[in-house]
Amino acid sequence: MVQGIANWNTEETQEWLQQYVDDWVTFYRKNTDDGELASYIPELQKADPNALGIVIRGNNGMTLRSGDTGEQFTLQSISKAITFIVACMERGVSYMLNNVDVEPTGEAFNSIMHLEMKQVKKPLNPFNNAGAITVTSTLPGTTSDERLEPVFQLLENMFGHRLKLNHAVYESERKSSTRNRAIGYYLLEVGFLESDLDVTLETYFKQCSIDVTIDDLARIGQVLANDGMDPKNGEEIVPRQIARITKVLMLTCGMYNASGKFATYVGIPAKSGVSGGILAAVPPRVRDDTMPFIDGCGIGVYGPALGEEGNSVAGIRLLRHIATQWDLSIF
Ligand code: DON
Repeated sequence: MVQGIANWNTEETQEWLQQYVDDWVTFYRKNTDDGELASYIPELQKADPNALGIVIRGNNGMTLRSGDTGEQFTLQSISKAITFIVACMERGVSYMLNNVDVEPTGEAFNSIMHLEMKQVKKPLNPFNNAGAITVTSTLPGTTSDERLEPVFQLLENMFGHRLKLNHAVYESERKSSTRNRAIGYYLLEVGFLESDLDVTLETYFKQCSIDVTIDDLARIGQVLANDGMDPKNGEEIVPRQIARITKVLMLTCGMYNASGKFATYVGIPAKSGVSGGILAAVPPRVRDDTMPFIDGCGIGVYGPALGEEGNSVAGIRLLRHIATQWDLSIF
């Protein structure tokens, strides 16, 4: 039997774990060659395709940072988790679940066909584009900036600093938005949108264009892992029920049509974006002193080279390796 380590949060164990993560990042960086930068938003093509970085923030106070940790990138689809949380906080959980379902689609993030073919009564989940645009349409406010204000506020509550919009990505996003406009018009036609289509789409393009770092993603993951509470002081940042539903959606729909494989091989609630970010939340686990981070942790990953489903290809392999080595799966 492996001898347990009573206190993982010491300088010695931190150095030891850091060495492992550094080796794994070096190893998986070569997998960035197996993916490609998102091409449908030209501004995202400026990223370094071989970048790979990770931040793990443990609820026990230990933080590991490795690889390209200084890069700024845009939230993209990771924003869908944040706007869903904000909409639930502003409008109530039952209201939101009446407007958008919680079922995986098994289809690409920007798929439109299931809406018509399945004659759905509401978009299938808040993390595909149809559901996310519907969620965005429920945010209170008249202008896109008014609607995004509670999103910025929530993020500021988590980080203690205000995030900024990346105007170049925003412009690029709106110029290449034909698919999202098509989805928007369909949603308008079937009566799923709660407010003006143009303002809703502007808000959606802006939420996708908020600049973050993997430190920020790890912090969001940590709060979600802790059922919405700040692990530092126990203050509630996100109501527990909303944090839990968000994690369920991350697990079942967060990696789009790769969600089943991700749940099987990694087993952690996570949300990806086409700029290459992954936000992951590892809840506290049954006591097992042979493994680090048993009190839970938040993980931020950046690797802009994407696989077919629009998720970071090296990022997923790195997460899979770490989850296996440290038994991070929730199952
Ligand atoms: O809706 C879009 O096309 C993007 N701005 C966001 C998509 C995205 O990040 C999909 N994720 N993997």
